[in-house]
Amino acid sequence: MRHEAADATLDLLMAAARRSARRAYAPYSQFRVGAALRLKNGEIVTGVNVENASYGMTICAERAALVRAVAEHGPGIRIIAVAVANLNEAASPPCGACRQMLAEFTEPDAPVVFPAAEGTRVMPFSEVFPLVFELKPGGADF
Ligand code: THU
Repeated sequence: MRHEAADATLDLLMAAARRSARRAYAPYSQFRVGAALRLKNGEIVTGVNVENASYGMTICAERAALVRAVAEHGPGIRIIAVAVANLNEAASPPCGACRQMLAEFTEPDAPVVFPAAEGTRVMPFSEVFPLVFELKPGGADF
């Protein structure tokens, strides 16, 4: 069973994600997403999806938050919790591209909170994204 204090912290992170979603730029999909990352240094960094008329250029909220976190706090950041929200009441775990980007900086046991069909779901990052691509010049070990 999860600890109450941890629950409250995740609720705050989810609230930050939801608030930021209102600032999303999503005129093409109307799917406004907000992400909030809690860093090991205690900071919370948010991001939103920013779409483009050239659809493929779109950046997701999670990656927008990530690049902002590195820009503001440097390359040594560690992410200890992730929250994702959207204004469409849709089930939406982070997309595959965002998982791979997050993997670089996210602790395997970091909780990931996201809207699911059955309500808000919390899963450790290692379960959300079990097979991380890592660059091993000597060859992968699988
Ligand atoms: N989107 C995100 O921001 N995060 C995700 O994890 C999945 C999708 C955005 C991209 C696009 O602007 C809109 O949602 C619809 O795909």
